[in-house]
Amino acid sequence: MAKDQAVFICQSCGSVHSKWAGQCAGCGLWNTLVQESFSTPPGGLKPETSPSKISRLTKLNFQTLEAEDKTPPRMETGIAEFDRVCGGGIVPGSAILLAGDPGVGKSTLLLQVTAQAASGGLRVAYISGEESAEQIRGRAFRMGLSKAPVELAAETSLRTILDALKREKFDLVIIDSIQTLWSDAIDAAQGSVSQVRACAGELVRLAKKQNIAMILVGHVTKEGQVAGPRVVEHMVDAVLSFEGERGYPFRILRGSKNRFGATDEIGVFEMGDIGLREVPNPSALFLTSGERTAGSAVFAGIEGTRPVLVEFQALVAPSAYGTPRRAVVGWDSGRLAMLLAVLESRCGVGFGQKDVYLNVAGGLKINEPAADLAAAMALMSSLLDVALPKDCVVFGEISLSGDIRSVSRMDSRLKEALKLGFASAIAPKAAADNAPFEVKSYDYLLEAIKGLETTD
Ligand code: TYD
Ligand code: MG
Repeated sequence: MAKDQAVFICQSCGSVHSKWAGQCAGCGLWNTLVQESFSTPPGGLKPETSPSKISRLTKLNFQTLEAEDKTPPRMETGIAEFDRVCGGGIVPGSAILLAGDPGVGKSTLLLQVTAQAASGGLRVAYISGEESAEQIRGRAFRMGLSKAPVELAAETSLRTILDALKREKFDLVIIDSIQTLWSDAIDAAQGSVSQVRACAGELVRLAKKQNIAMILVGHVTKEGQVAGPRVVEHMVDAVLSFEGERGYPFRILRGSKNRFGATDEIGVFEMGDIGLREVPNPSALFLTSGERTAGSAVFAGIEGTRPVLVEFQALVAPSAYGTPRRAVVGWDSGRLAMLLAVLESRCGVGFGQKDVYLNVAGGLKINEPAADLAAAMALMSSLLDVALPKDCVVFGEISLSGDIRSVSRMDSRLKEALKLGFASAIAPKAAADNAPFEVKSYDYLLEAIKGLETTD
């Protein structure tokens, strides 16, 4: 074997560098390179058998597949919001990464998922490297889950965990978290890229071999102190992220990769005193109650398969400094910059010497391009100090040329708005056909702004 060679590995993206540098050339983050040894094998443990013989090759035989069920079997955990994001339940033998900020509620969610799944008859192990079995038991007791037949272990040694999982036959195993595991075959600190990669690799291999569904928890770290879940993403079958804004009770489970299902589905939860509560109908959850003032626009969005109404709040104020501020919460700041440029060059509205603040109420993060028009209307409403009608929803994509483009499922958006008591909309031209109420439909952003100016 080659002699140990010192290399520098980015703790965020995992790219390998031969020399230390302040900034990672791979992901652009600063101070994330850490010296690690490179001669270790890619797996966490040495192979048990000679690698020359492949155990079994099978044919991809469509004839026999046709006779069988082609869709992978699913294990439903009983937490409907979780199952839906997985694509209708967890696929046996699949590996899932659940990533999220520390404290967002990953352990709480998985404790509830495992308790439900175990009560439903699955054999489930919860292996924690962060909390003792006593602490987990205490939390389960507070949440009223202490009767669930989940098997607990507090362990961080990869070898011990693999031994235990090989001995017993589990349907579902939780590893909380992958950053706390360590393999004795790797000469690197706990939580480093080499350790995380090796431990995840071994666990995923075992999951496939023994047909165990494995959920690996990964903390997202901005500072690059410990390896981010990004280095594990390509090894697993599905990546779920658990999001939530500090100060809001809502938590969103979102799929960003799924080999066995769609990735556009979200699960909505509300954090309470006794854990997370499922929110099966979130459409009105993110609306603020009360009067709509200038600067507010209600966006009729679609999250996954479900319509969700959320409020965009904008504040445009004269800037006290030379460089005006732009601050966004819940929306993409690049998208805001684009929108301001379109407003300036296509509609002649200048934000040059003004501070611009944009906030999506309720802590939801909006990724849909259909939100462009709602953001534009909120900004213009604040700039002109004209409030939009109280019962009005907005949606539509804005192109760089200033056109308003049609978006998907416009009728579902309008129907949901009607259900929640809205009675008008500002939307792309095509939305006006068969609309359940009055729709002010426009082809160009400039027309929509003119329409706003004549409100009142
Ligand atoms: P936790 O699941 O430990 O987060 P993670 O595993 O993602 O680090 O959740 C911790 C937070 O959740 C903590 O700030 C307290 C809060 N919480 C509640 O509000 N209610 C509850 O019933 C529980 C169990 C936790
Ligand atoms: Mg935790």
